[in-house]
Amino acid sequence: MNDQISVAEASALAARVLDEVEKAVVGKRDALMQVLAAVLAKGHVLLEDYPGLGKTLAARSFAQALGIEFTRAQFTPDLLPADLTGSFVYDQRRGEFEFRRGPLFTGLLLADEVNRTPPKTQAALLEAMQERQVTVEGETFPLPAPFHVLATANPIEYEGTFPLPEAQLDRFLLRVSFGYPSAGQEFDVIARRLERRQEDVVLEQVTDGRGLLAMQAAVETVTVDESVGRYCVDLAVATREHADVLTGASPRGSLGLVLAARAFALLRGRDYVVPEDVKAVARSVLAHRITTRPELWMTDASGRRVVDAVLGKVPTPATVAHHR
Ligand SMILES: Nc1ncnc2c1ncn2[C@@H]1O[C@H](COP(=O)(O)OP(=O)(O)OP(=O)(O)O)[C@@H](O)[C@H]1O
Ligand SMILES: [Mg+2]
Repeated sequence: MNDQISVAEASALAARVLDEVEKAVVGKRDALMQVLAAVLAKGHVLLEDYPGLGKTLAARSFAQALGIEFTRAQFTPDLLPADLTGSFVYDQRRGEFEFRRGPLFTGLLLADEVNRTPPKTQAALLEAMQERQVTVEGETFPLPAPFHVLATANPIEYEGTFPLPEAQLDRFLLRVSFGYPSAGQEFDVIARRLERRQEDVVLEQVTDGRGLLAMQAAVETVTVDESVGRYCVDLAVATREHADVLTGASPRGSLGLVLAARAFALLRGRDYVVPEDVKAVARSVLAHRITTRPELWMTDASGRRVVDAVLGKVPTPATVAHHR
């Protein structure tokens, strides 16, 4: 059974987690809020960015503040599914095979450069994300809870990379980019580093795995007015009807929108969702689920632009009544 905490308590804990992470990561409040919202909504995150923008630092910092085990796996071209799941190894002394758990058995997995590994290994990761269990030689092993994946991918598809197929992108609740810091923030990174006289930032542990499960349970009690639920559907449908779009967001997309918006509402200290919460997560939830027409790939018709267009077009529901 989960410990019971209120939305207000969960919100206060989440704010402390963010504050801790921000001791290490400079100037990325919005992206960090998105990542935490995804985790609170029991989802996985795709971090799409160039090298050196603080992705590893952010993942490690979240694991520290949340008090969950952190594992990093580098996805190389020769990584095999068994390198992730684990495999049976022969125990000489006992004379039998024993399952040795792979890096998937953790709290927060940083799956670094997922687009550098071949589809078979990507599939093993995505299956674990979806099913929260792994099957090896016909035997099934449940993954611990909480279990979250932060996968990184380089946005440039250079030679020898395997872009994640559409169907697999859909499994990430959010896709987030950190982007370059401002010059002021970049200098702040340097100033803080010089001041602490060491590489690592020491962060306080705010909660633990059990606490995170309780926060996730609190998110489940955040209420969603019917008008807001319908708004999420209208947005997803509008992505499918957009002229530049080949395939739009699936029902998994509209559901993701509701679930992420609910966690975002909690982060903002509310126990009910308003359309602004939906708008705040819409780009990160929907853009990676949209494919634009191939003949438009050389233009600036991207998933992001489509989401911006539908946000501008679909009528926002009137302020929702807060009823419990
Ligand atoms: N926003 C930031 N705040 C604080 N430190 C930062 C930030 N961005 C980069 N750094 C610093 O830059 C270095 C690189 O960060 P990190 O290793 O997290 O990058 P990365 O995005 O994981 O890169 P890669 O894609 O190469 O793995 C670290 O020393 C980190 O402290
Ligand atoms: Mg890294």
